[in-house]
Amino acid sequence: MDSANFEPRIVGFLCRWCSYTGADLAGTSRMKYPPNLVPIRVMCSGRVDPTFVIKALKEGADGVLIAGCHPGDCHYTSGNFRTLGRYTLLQIMLEQLGVEKGRVKLEWVSASEGDKWARVVKEITEEVRKLGALNWDGVVEQTKQEVAECADEKVKI
Ligand code: FES
Repeated sequence: MDSANFEPRIVGFLCRWCSYTGADLAGTSRMKYPPNLVPIRVMCSGRVDPTFVIKALKEGADGVLIAGCHPGDCHYTSGNFRTLGRYTLLQIMLEQLGVEKGRVKLEWVSASEGDKWARVVKEITEEVRKLGALNWDGVVEQTKQEVAECADEKVKI
């Protein structure tokens, strides 16, 4: 399938207090943005365990967006700071697995930023469209080979 006809599947984890409300505002304001993102409402972006992201990619998503309140605005004070830390580590791990950086994004979108929500969805959709479909089986196979090679290496002390 060429990139012009490829429709990316993107999973979005949206915090209930800011980003989900921002997405709702974009909808009620009739802003236009691609329909490629499936939103999943979570109580806080800090609820998004990195395994949720891995599971979404494994189950067929080509990209994942995590969206939460701006720093300092988290309903639970510091949930989004935890998210930022986990996201940074997750990006390093995904890169080592061979998953391109643009497939998983973290954005801060407030309840009043319907326009930002529409822009963020457009941007990630276009970025993932350019990257093409995620070959998760290829990622798994490559990781298995690397692990096997490491196991075969003799450790010199
Ligand atoms: S409640 Fe929105 S990021 Fe924590």
